[in-house]
Amino acid sequence: MKAAITATAKYLPDGVVTNHDLERMLETNDEWIRSRTGISERRIMKDPDKASSFLCGEVAKQLLDKRGISAEEIELIIVATMTPDMLFPSTACLVQDIIGATGAWAFDLNAACSGFIFALNTAARFIESGAHKKVMVIGGDKMSSIVDYTDRSTAILFGDGAAGVLLEPAESEGYGILDARLYSDGTNGKDHLLMSGGGSLHPATHETVEKRMHFIHQDGRQVFKSAVTAMADTAAEIMQRNNLDAENIAWLIPHQANQRIIQATAERMGLGMEKVISNIAHYGNTTAGTIPICLAELDEQRKLNRGSNLVLVSFGAGYTWGGMYIKWQ
Ligand code: COA
Repeated sequence: MKAAITATAKYLPDGVVTNHDLERMLETNDEWIRSRTGISERRIMKDPDKASSFLCGEVAKQLLDKRGISAEEIELIIVATMTPDMLFPSTACLVQDIIGATGAWAFDLNAACSGFIFALNTAARFIESGAHKKVMVIGGDKMSSIVDYTDRSTAILFGDGAAGVLLEPAESEGYGILDARLYSDGTNGKDHLLMSGGGSLHPATHETVEKRMHFIHQDGRQVFKSAVTAMADTAAEIMQRNNLDAENIAWLIPHQANQRIIQATAERMGLGMEKVISNIAHYGNTTAGTIPICLAELDEQRKLNRGSNLVLVSFGAGYTWGGMYIKWQ
């Protein structure tokens, strides 16, 4: 038995921060940002009283509406996030409370930008084993809570947003999540993309705040090189393992970190950009949100047909990366 996606939903906050807005805060310019990253604007949640659980909760409510089911029917909620409202309780438990999914168990999964694919693959095992029939998988991040708006190398990249899916047993054989290859490399990843403060190694002190340790730090050039190789290699591996080619792939759904990384992945797959979803121009990198936001947009635009072959690929902090093959039900 395979697991299939039976509903999608997304939530982007209303606040828009354009490259021109950032020009007024930092020594940067619209042309530099667009040519190096493909980003023109990103969404930011301006209400300080709302955090990742709000973003993910809005997604969860829509998933129930779209599928026409009650919250009590949800058996498991997995939230992929690296910006939980707080270290504990998990954001998944807060989402459970928001929708009143009293019969579910719930937990967070942190694999940074690969969080959604890691969570989706984890959730699929619970469906395939017969343990559960309705699982919610949501990826969302309030990146503005950990972005240093005095650091032009990272402030331009990230935005807030969330999206998710409902996972259920596939109706017929050959549909649903058919393959996944997931990887991690802490040896090469641990020093290049991190937020060092606020955990058990460096709990919050005046010193950690002064040293700006509660913000993202990234060696962009190193991460870029690793991301290009890992995403392209994994996409090629997924194609080879599943006899996919440029003709029979309907959509490449890549993590939205940088338009140049997306293009390099498509090139390696021999895919024309008309088969690649990219919305980085409007949302930037929403971390665990990017891939399900793309899925939800394709679904809204009715661009997912029964039998469409989808390849999902991601890369993120850890390092973590992976690819997935879904035949749309
Ligand atoms: N505006 C203008 N100039 C900027 C700038 C900005 N926002 N940010 C950096 N620069 C400058 C740098 O200071 C550097 O100047 P120098 O040559 O005088 O030292 C120059 O631009 C080039 O910097 P570099 O970091 O080499 O640029 P880049 O082409 O690698 O692009 C990133 C930077 C961050 C866009 C790119 O490395 C990237 O996308 N990395 C991967 C990010 C990512 O995917 N992260 C999430 C993981 S999923």
